[in-house]
Amino acid sequence: MVNVAIIGAKGYAGKELVRLCLRHPEIRLVALTDLVEQPQPVSEQFPEFRGLTELMIEPTDVDRISTQAEAIFLALPHRVSQEYVAPFIHTGRRVFDLSADFRFTRIETYEQTYAIEHKEKELAKKAVYGLAEFNRNKIKDAQLIAVPGCYPTGALLGILPIVRAGVRLDSPIIVDAKSGVSGAGRKPTETTHFPECNESIMAYAVGHHRHQPEIEEKIHEAGGENARDVRLIFTPHLIPMTRGILSTIYLSLAEEVAEQDIARIFQEHYGGEFFIRLLPAGKFPTTKAVTYTNFCDIGWKKVAEHLLIVITAIDNLVKGASGQAVQCFNICYGFPEQTGLV
Ligand SMILES: NC(=O)c1ccc[n+]([C@@H]2O[C@H](COP(=O)([O-])OP(=O)(O)OC[C@H]3O[C@@H](n4cnc5c(N)ncnc54)[C@H](OP(=O)(O)O)[C@@H]3O)[C@@H](O)[C@H]2O)c1
Repeated sequence: MVNVAIIGAKGYAGKELVRLCLRHPEIRLVALTDLVEQPQPVSEQFPEFRGLTELMIEPTDVDRISTQAEAIFLALPHRVSQEYVAPFIHTGRRVFDLSADFRFTRIETYEQTYAIEHKEKELAKKAVYGLAEFNRNKIKDAQLIAVPGCYPTGALLGILPIVRAGVRLDSPIIVDAKSGVSGAGRKPTETTHFPECNESIMAYAVGHHRHQPEIEEKIHEAGGENARDVRLIFTPHLIPMTRGILSTIYLSLAEEVAEQDIARIFQEHYGGEFFIRLLPAGKFPTTKAVTYTNFCDIGWKKVAEHLLIVITAIDNLVKGASGQAVQCFNICYGFPEQTGLV
């Protein structure tokens, strides 16, 4: 059993972590904290935990948590996360950070994208990007795991097999993605407030969403020389459902690639992956089929000689955040990857 603490337990990703950790047979949940002044039962914040746990959400006391827990899940906003990661790492704890703070290889890209200076540059170099299906060998021995963003997870799981296989792509890669409203966190805003977003669909942050550079960096790293100049157009949409992301990805093939070769590439990458479900030819994913699961469903079709469309569906709070964090936790501690996730 591993003693675990969740920081940011009052938010949506934190809540999902509580749900997953409570049913995980190898996790003993010992502390939940957030930006609260007085301790309060987690079941008061989230009534669905009534009868399942007596744990309180408490103020965040790093020293106390470090003595109680061996593994720390951080579900805090970017910028804030940096402040907490360092002290936990320095006391030897293992940290799974759900924010964007440690996801970038190029710190300059992070600083430009989030318009802040990174305060933990040395630490950032040690972080491992927690895209489990592509990075498990590094995740296994890492002390700091940067859990990928929700949109990047949906996009990269569709794109990376093709890029890794050395298929040359023409610019741009186009990702048209639709997310449920929980992707924006728990606090409603003018655009995420129910009467504003219900029965409506809108594109937002067109051409400058903060996940675009994250997706682009990982494509360039995976594809090496072949992908160095490939640009990404990423258009996110807010749609009136609670959870889920559907990503429709347009890949312009710079060379002739036969359908059976595409099928072989996906099969070679994902044939042995429990959490990736490749759909039969002619079938395409739905967010409903992956809700509350850690699965990523993938369908694809070549629609012209040089155009491949790949469609992925994930639950943004599970495979796109907390479930993927638990998958990384399982890899780090040597538990089967499905533990607590099925
Ligand atoms: N939602 C998703 O689908 C998703 C997917 C992937 C990754 N993520 C990432 O996961 C992180 C959490 O996202 P979320 O959607 O759960 O957001 P959220 O619902 O807004 O929750 C964030 C939590 O952090 C707390 N917090 C803010 N400032 C704090 C501070 N200085 N000290 C301690 N706690 C503080 C907030 O408390 P207050 O409410 O009191 O401010 C809130 O409980 C973010 O970095 C996000 O980018 C989210």
